[in-house]
Amino acid sequence: MGRGLFLAFEGIDASGKSTQARRVAELHDAHFAFEPGDTPLGVDLRRWILDASTPMSPETEVLLLLSDRSHHVHTVIEPALRQGRDVVIDRYFASTLAYQGHGRGLDLAELKAATDLAIGTCLPDLTILIDIELDVANERRARDAKDRFESADLDFHARVREGYLELAREFADVWFVVDGSGSEEDVARVIDERLATLDWSHG
Ligand code: TYD
Repeated sequence: MGRGLFLAFEGIDASGKSTQARRVAELHDAHFAFEPGDTPLGVDLRRWILDASTPMSPETEVLLLLSDRSHHVHTVIEPALRQGRDVVIDRYFASTLAYQGHGRGLDLAELKAATDLAIGTCLPDLTILIDIELDVANERRARDAKDRFESADLDFHARVREGYLELAREFADVWFVVDGSGSEEDVARVIDERLATLDWSHG
């Protein structure tokens, strides 16, 4: 049995990527994964990562995120792919480059090296970036309690969005950018057309 297909969904908060990632996983009978917090250890790490009432340095933040990712890769993602299962993940290493690199200002070369340590060779076959303007995201975002990232200022989110677009240009052969401002159905149609060309294990 061949290795499963590995697909990552990325985008700023409220881009609609989680909805699309779950839908695609279900449609193709793939394993649905997400970061941060998709393992028992990750549940505890996620609590600290998102808790805005515990101030921490960007370095501490990224090391917690990478601990979560490394454990996730070793215990869930890599075993599933090796068994021939397709995996669709909601956020992966590009989130770290966009949020902690472009957003927080950590050195990108250092982040890439640290990310390599966390994921080894477990790279997505395709990354789908759902891109939306910041004011569309703001309108969609709930106005209730905010986590560490939701409470960051507008400039932070603008840098994250630009960071994603820069990554998409740099790795254009393995990234696909979708305009996320349309309806859920419109976005789904564009994604499904692109995904129809991939070699899924199931359906
Ligand atoms: P989550 O509640 O999962 O929301 P979302 O639907 O936006 O994915 O929150 C995850 C938050 O963690 C999100 O604001 C982005 C942030 N994050 C990083 O900053 N770096 C990372 O590497 C990852 C995986 C997430």
